[in-house]
Amino acid sequence: MAENAKHLLIVDDEAPLREAIAERLGDHGFIVEQAGSGEDALARLSDFAFDVIITDLRLPGVDGRAVLEAALERYPDIIAIIITGFGTVKDAVNAIKQGAADFVTKPFQFDALLHVLNSALEQRRLRSENAYLRSQLENRYRIDGLVGRSPAMRNLFHLLETVAATSSTILISGETGTGKELAARAIHHSSPRRANRFVALNCSAIPETLLEAELFGHVRGAFTGAVGTRQGRLEQAHKGTLFLDEVGTMSPALQAKLLRVLQEREFERVGDSHTIRIDVRIIAATHSDLAKMVADGAFREDLFYRLNVIPVQLPPLRDRREDIPLLVQHFLQKLGAEQAPPRTVTMSQEALRRLMAHSWPGNVRQLENIVERALAFSQGRAQVDVGDLGPELQRVAPESDANGTWFPEEGMDLERYIEGVELGLIRRSLERTHGNKVQAAKLLNLKRTTLIEKLKRLERGTPA
Ligand SMILES: Nc1ncnc2c1ncn2[C@@H]1O[C@H](COP(=O)(O)OP(=O)(O)OP(=O)(O)O)[C@@H](O)[C@H]1O
Ligand SMILES: [Mg+2]
Repeated sequence: MAENAKHLLIVDDEAPLREAIAERLGDHGFIVEQAGSGEDALARLSDFAFDVIITDLRLPGVDGRAVLEAALERYPDIIAIIITGFGTVKDAVNAIKQGAADFVTKPFQFDALLHVLNSALEQRRLRSENAYLRSQLENRYRIDGLVGRSPAMRNLFHLLETVAATSSTILISGETGTGKELAARAIHHSSPRRANRFVALNCSAIPETLLEAELFGHVRGAFTGAVGTRQGRLEQAHKGTLFLDEVGTMSPALQAKLLRVLQEREFERVGDSHTIRIDVRIIAATHSDLAKMVADGAFREDLFYRLNVIPVQLPPLRDRREDIPLLVQHFLQKLGAEQAPPRTVTMSQEALRRLMAHSWPGNVRQLENIVERALAFSQGRAQVDVGDLGPELQRVAPESDANGTWFPEEGMDLERYIEGVELGLIRRSLERTHGNKVQAAKLLNLKRTTLIEKLKRLERGTPA
């Protein structure tokens, strides 16, 4: 049997017709299985990934529409062809809206069916070839703003493209600044849902009491202050993608409610008993180790398994230093173009070496910040150099003395250096507290307002 022979399932309760078609399709090189009922078809679909399903719409028991729905839900790429009775074109049109490739009307000639089948296969082949070529040309080292050429990132791109075609729930984990949100957006934008919304909700940024209403919406008077009825993020993401960031911070009560959404695709607005059904793809992200949180009893195990259908792990930058030159180039280009007037800036090799030797606790976000700062400090120059990089990067210099203070041969600009140290420490403090300015200020023994002022001034690069 040819290796690329297509596996086909034909579903019809009229045995003579079904058997005749199966035999002739077999003659044309298809590997054919038959199902005489909807139930039988569902059982076969759950065991095997057919390339093609041909089903009569009218079946006793589980009907053809349900078979079609199950087939497409499980295998979004399956080619489904519908057989309809005379005068039921409306049903056929509905089936096509549902995702069927084409239909034939009974009674039909075998050749008509074969023609419909072959053109659907041809269309599918062209479409996937095009998608492949496009991805080769445009996205050799990037998808949707995610840049990288290390093996780890290439594997990631491949994985993202594969999962984008499905509607499966995805759990993205990775340290802060590794690009979790960017990856989630990339999945949405390469998915069949791209025409609909990508809705992001950061579970750690909203007080627990408001998070539920934010997620599910609420009706008027559901709680103090609920003056009107409001859609939640879930509803806003209908037919699209909901990105649940920092899902590990959800309270047990909300975890239970989210579990129900994942299992039943339904929920109620806060204060309402009317059940709303939605079609939404959920991508969750976390910087903490959820498996460990499950082991510690801090996260529901059942929810973890529902979220972790497809795990996507973003590698830390220190494990893929080879991506740094490409990322630097990407950020210099992007940020240089945003300046007025636009600038074309490169980076010296020595500066690149410094960057590649760094440990990157804040990952790509930190690299982006450093490039941005260097660009500001380089003023009119066409090349960014070591001196523009800021103190975190100076510290790895071999010239560092026992105190870790760096003092170059040619001297330095003391004020700018101190400002760089300040900015670096404030950023690290913010990183450690996940952006919480009150806690970050406490770590630095500053007032919150002082920290905010300093940060604003230093990021602008203007003197005190
Ligand atoms: N591979 C990459 N290529 C280009 N830019 C990237 C890449 N990874 C991250 N970035 C940039 O770094 C910054 C941080 O990315 P993102 O917000 O997606 O990270 P995150 O993992 O969600 O971080 P956090 O856990 O802190 O929320 C963004 O500005 C993003 O554009
Ligand atoms: Mg994020």
